[in-house]
Amino acid sequence: MLKIAVLVSGSGSNLQALIDARLSGQIVGVISNKPGAYALERAQKAGIATAVIEHKQYPDRESFDDVMHQQLLDWEVDLVVLAGFMRILSAKFVKAWEGKMLNIHPSLLPHYKGMHTHQRVLNTGDVYHGCTVHYVTAELDAGQALAQGVLTVSHQDSVESLANRVHVLEHLIYPQVVEWICSGTLQHTPNAVLYRGQVLAQPLQFCQR
Ligand code: GRF
Repeated sequence: MLKIAVLVSGSGSNLQALIDARLSGQIVGVISNKPGAYALERAQKAGIATAVIEHKQYPDRESFDDVMHQQLLDWEVDLVVLAGFMRILSAKFVKAWEGKMLNIHPSLLPHYKGMHTHQRVLNTGDVYHGCTVHYVTAELDAGQALAQGVLTVSHQDSVESLANRVHVLEHLIYPQVVEWICSGTLQHTPNAVLYRGQVLAQPLQFCQR
Protein backbone atom coordinates (compact mmCIF):
# COMPACT_ATOMS: atom_id res chain seq x y z
CA MET A 1 0.00 0.00 0.00
CA LEU A 2 1.38 3.39 -1.05
CA LYS A 3 2.20 5.74 1.81
CA ILE A 4 1.13 9.31 1.13
CA ALA A 5 2.00 12.58 2.85
CA VAL A 6 -0.02 15.73 2.23
CA LEU A 7 1.62 19.15 2.58
CA VAL A 8 -0.70 22.04 3.45
CA SER A 9 -0.73 25.65 4.55
CA GLY A 10 -4.41 26.52 4.80
CA SER A 11 -7.97 25.28 4.81
CA GLY A 12 -7.23 21.84 3.43
CA SER A 13 -10.39 21.23 1.44
CA ASN A 14 -8.33 19.17 -1.00
CA LEU A 15 -6.90 17.19 1.91
CA GLN A 16 -10.51 16.53 3.00
CA ALA A 17 -11.39 15.31 -0.49
CA LEU A 18 -8.42 12.93 -0.38
CA ILE A 19 -9.46 11.65 3.06
CA ASP A 20 -13.09 11.21 1.95
CA ALA A 21 -12.05 9.36 -1.22
CA ARG A 22 -10.94 6.33 0.80
CA LEU A 23 -7.89 5.83 -1.37
CA SER A 24 -6.27 2.45 -1.74
CA GLY A 25 -3.09 4.15 -0.48
CA GLN A 26 -2.73 5.38 3.09
CA ILE A 27 -2.34 9.03 4.11
CA VAL A 28 0.32 8.54 6.78
CA GLY A 29 0.94 12.17 7.65
CA VAL A 30 0.14 15.81 7.05
CA ILE A 31 2.78 18.54 7.26
CA SER A 32 1.84 22.20 7.64
CA ASN A 33 4.21 25.16 7.61
CA LYS A 34 1.47 27.16 9.39
CA PRO A 35 0.58 26.21 12.99
CA GLY A 36 -3.05 27.42 12.77
CA ALA A 37 -3.93 25.80 9.45
CA TYR A 38 -7.45 24.32 9.53
CA ALA A 39 -6.10 21.40 7.49
CA LEU A 40 -4.37 20.18 10.67
CA GLU A 41 -7.74 19.83 12.40
CA ARG A 42 -9.09 17.88 9.45
CA ALA A 43 -6.12 15.51 9.66
CA GLN A 44 -6.46 15.06 13.41
CA LYS A 45 -10.21 14.34 13.08
CA ALA A 46 -9.33 11.61 10.57
CA GLY A 47 -6.70 10.15 12.91
CA ILE A 48 -3.78 11.11 10.66
CA ALA A 49 -0.41 12.07 12.13
CA THR A 50 0.49 15.75 11.78
CA ALA A 51 3.71 17.75 11.90
CA VAL A 52 4.02 21.52 12.05
CA ILE A 53 7.27 22.68 10.55
CA GLU A 54 7.31 26.47 10.61
CA HIS A 55 9.42 27.90 7.82
CA LYS A 56 9.98 31.07 9.87
CA GLN A 57 12.04 29.10 12.35
CA TYR A 58 14.69 28.21 9.79
CA PRO A 59 17.40 30.49 8.42
CA ASP A 60 16.86 29.51 4.78
CA ARG A 61 14.73 27.47 2.40
CA GLU A 62 17.15 24.51 2.31
CA SER A 63 17.25 23.95 6.06
CA PHE A 64 13.43 24.10 6.27
CA ASP A 65 13.17 21.63 3.38
CA ASP A 66 15.73 19.32 5.03
CA VAL A 67 13.52 19.00 8.10
CA MET A 68 10.47 18.26 5.94
CA HIS A 69 12.47 15.73 3.96
CA GLN A 70 13.52 13.93 7.14
CA GLN A 71 9.92 13.84 8.37
CA LEU A 72 8.83 12.29 5.06
CA LEU A 73 11.58 9.68 5.36
CA ASP A 74 10.54 8.94 8.95
CA TRP A 75 7.00 8.28 7.72
CA GLU A 76 8.45 6.16 4.86
CA VAL A 77 6.47 8.18 2.33
CA ASP A 78 6.15 7.04 -1.30
CA LEU A 79 4.11 9.96 -2.63
CA VAL A 80 4.04 13.63 -1.61
CA VAL A 81 0.84 15.54 -2.37
CA LEU A 82 0.95 19.33 -2.21
CA ALA A 83 -2.52 20.64 -1.36
CA GLY A 84 -2.47 24.39 -0.91
CA PHE A 85 1.12 24.34 0.33
CA MET A 86 2.24 27.94 -0.06
CA ARG A 87 6.03 27.64 -0.07
CA ILE A 88 8.41 27.42 -2.97
CA LEU A 89 10.53 24.28 -2.55
CA SER A 90 14.31 24.15 -2.97
CA ALA A 91 15.80 22.47 -6.04
CA LYS A 92 17.38 19.81 -3.82
CA PHE A 93 14.05 18.87 -2.22
CA VAL A 94 12.27 18.79 -5.57
CA LYS A 95 15.01 16.59 -7.04
CA ALA A 96 14.75 14.17 -4.10
CA TRP A 97 11.00 13.71 -4.73
CA GLU A 98 11.01 13.92 -8.53
CA GLY A 99 8.30 11.74 -10.00
CA LYS A 100 6.86 11.25 -6.51
CA MET A 101 5.42 14.68 -5.81
CA LEU A 102 2.17 16.17 -7.12
CA ASN A 103 0.60 19.60 -6.99
CA ILE A 104 -2.77 21.01 -7.96
CA HIS A 105 -2.91 24.45 -9.51
CA PRO A 106 -6.07 26.53 -10.08
CA SER A 107 -5.66 27.12 -13.82
CA LEU A 108 -5.42 25.22 -17.06
CA LEU A 109 -1.63 25.02 -17.17
CA PRO A 110 0.49 26.09 -18.98
CA HIS A 111 -1.79 29.15 -18.79
CA TYR A 112 -1.67 31.29 -15.66
CA LYS A 113 1.20 29.96 -13.65
CA GLY A 114 1.56 31.68 -10.29
CA MET A 115 -1.05 33.59 -8.29
CA HIS A 116 -4.44 35.28 -8.84
CA THR A 117 -5.46 32.91 -11.60
CA HIS A 118 -9.22 33.56 -11.40
CA GLN A 119 -8.79 37.33 -11.69
CA ARG A 120 -6.42 36.92 -14.61
CA VAL A 121 -8.87 34.63 -16.42
CA LEU A 122 -11.65 37.23 -15.97
CA ASN A 123 -9.37 40.06 -17.10
CA THR A 124 -8.50 38.20 -20.29
CA GLY A 125 -12.09 37.14 -20.97
CA ASP A 126 -11.23 33.46 -21.38
CA VAL A 127 -14.02 30.99 -22.18
CA TYR A 128 -12.39 28.07 -20.36
CA HIS A 129 -10.83 27.82 -16.92
CA GLY A 130 -10.13 25.06 -14.43
CA CYS A 131 -7.38 23.27 -12.55
CA THR A 132 -4.42 21.04 -13.27
CA VAL A 133 -2.80 18.19 -11.36
CA HIS A 134 0.88 18.00 -12.27
CA TYR A 135 4.16 16.56 -11.19
CA VAL A 136 6.36 19.03 -9.33
CA THR A 137 9.62 20.01 -10.99
CA ALA A 138 12.14 22.74 -10.23
CA GLU A 139 10.35 25.24 -12.45
CA LEU A 140 7.19 26.57 -10.78
CA ASP A 141 3.89 25.09 -12.09
CA ALA A 142 5.72 23.56 -15.07
CA GLY A 143 5.92 19.79 -14.38
CA GLN A 144 4.02 17.34 -16.57
CA ALA A 145 0.27 17.83 -16.37
CA LEU A 146 -1.62 14.63 -15.56
CA ALA A 147 -5.24 15.72 -15.39
CA GLN A 148 -7.30 18.86 -15.81
CA GLY A 149 -10.76 19.85 -14.67
CA VAL A 150 -12.29 22.20 -17.22
CA LEU A 151 -15.22 24.59 -16.83
CA THR A 152 -16.86 27.19 -19.05
CA VAL A 153 -16.64 30.71 -17.69
CA SER A 154 -20.02 32.45 -17.67
CA HIS A 155 -20.55 36.20 -17.91
CA GLN A 156 -21.95 36.05 -14.37
CA ASP A 157 -18.76 34.60 -12.89
CA SER A 158 -16.72 36.54 -10.33
CA VAL A 159 -13.40 35.69 -8.67
CA GLU A 160 -15.38 34.08 -5.83
CA SER A 161 -17.65 32.00 -8.04
CA LEU A 162 -14.70 30.80 -10.12
CA ALA A 163 -12.76 29.92 -6.98
CA ASN A 164 -15.75 27.85 -5.78
CA ARG A 165 -16.35 26.18 -9.13
CA VAL A 166 -12.65 25.34 -9.55
CA HIS A 167 -12.57 23.88 -6.04
CA VAL A 168 -15.39 21.48 -6.98
CA LEU A 169 -13.27 20.25 -9.88
CA GLU A 170 -10.15 20.02 -7.72
CA HIS A 171 -11.95 17.78 -5.25
CA LEU A 172 -12.92 15.51 -8.13
CA ILE A 173 -9.65 15.22 -10.04
CA TYR A 174 -7.04 15.25 -7.28
CA PRO A 175 -8.28 12.11 -5.48
CA GLN A 176 -8.76 10.47 -8.89
CA VAL A 177 -5.14 11.07 -9.95
CA VAL A 178 -3.80 9.98 -6.56
CA GLU A 179 -5.90 6.80 -6.77
CA TRP A 180 -4.54 6.09 -10.27
CA ILE A 181 -1.04 6.31 -8.84
CA CYS A 182 -1.96 4.11 -5.85
CA SER A 183 -3.43 1.47 -8.15
CA GLY A 184 -0.57 1.59 -10.68
CA THR A 185 -2.91 2.89 -13.41
CA LEU A 186 -0.63 5.92 -13.71
CA GLN A 187 3.10 5.28 -13.58
CA HIS A 188 6.09 7.59 -13.61
CA THR A 189 8.90 5.92 -15.54
CA PRO A 190 12.30 7.42 -16.47
CA ASN A 191 11.18 8.03 -20.07
CA ALA A 192 7.51 8.88 -19.81
CA VAL A 193 4.39 8.93 -17.70
CA LEU A 194 2.22 5.92 -18.53
CA TYR A 195 -1.56 5.80 -18.17
CA ARG A 196 -2.95 2.26 -18.49
CA GLY A 197 0.40 1.27 -19.99
CA GLN A 198 0.32 3.94 -22.74
CA VAL A 199 2.41 7.10 -22.88
CA LEU A 200 0.39 9.99 -21.50
CA ALA A 201 0.95 12.75 -24.06
CA GLN A 202 -1.83 15.10 -22.91
CA PRO A 203 -3.45 15.59 -19.51
CA LEU A 204 -6.70 13.67 -19.02
CA GLN A 205 -9.58 16.13 -19.04
CA PHE A 206 -12.75 16.24 -16.97
CA CYS A 207 -15.36 18.79 -17.98
CA GLN A 208 -17.99 20.62 -15.92
CA ARG A 209 -20.79 22.55 -17.58
C1 GRF B 1 -6.38 25.21 -4.19
O1 GRF B 1 -7.13 26.14 -4.88
C2 GRF B 1 -5.23 24.73 -5.03
O2 GRF B 1 -5.46 24.82 -6.38
C3 GRF B 1 -4.11 25.66 -4.64
O3 GRF B 1 -4.33 25.94 -3.29
C4 GRF B 1 -5.71 25.82 -2.97
C5 GRF B 1 -5.82 24.95 -1.75
O4 GRF B 1 -7.10 24.91 -1.23
N1 GRF B 1 -2.83 25.03 -4.90
P1 GRF B 1 -7.43 23.99 0.02
O5 GRF B 1 -6.49 24.38 1.17
O6 GRF B 1 -7.20 22.57 -0.40
O7 GRF B 1 -8.86 24.28 0.35
